[in-house]
Amino acid sequence: MPKVVFINPDQTHLELDIPVGTSLMRAAIANGIAGIVGDCGGGLTCATCHVLVDEEFLAKTSPMTHNEDQMLDFTAMGRQPNSRLSCQLVMQDELEGLTVRIADHQV
Ligand code: FES
Repeated sequence: MPKVVFINPDQTHLELDIPVGTSLMRAAIANGIAGIVGDCGGGLTCATCHVLVDEEFLAKTSPMTHNEDQMLDFTAMGRQPNSRLSCQLVMQDELEGLTVRIADHQV
């Protein structure tokens, strides 16, 4: 399983092995990562699963949909150039070693 590194707002790190096909949001919640809320369960209506993707991996992530792009304008922490919603980041082998920083706040 590809490994993902989550960096918490307090700079602590957590590594998770995430099955291919599982979203980062679901994996984070299943593993008790408190900084990811995911209120809508991945329905793209809450923007509480905001992460910042390491620049090195941006081109490897799936393209952003129009709906995700719109929802990123409603994140609690201001949108950054490398912002994504983690419910839309589905694990794939090419993302081995992906590093994401969890937004400072989600609500
Ligand atoms: Fe709601 Fe990602 S979990 S937008």
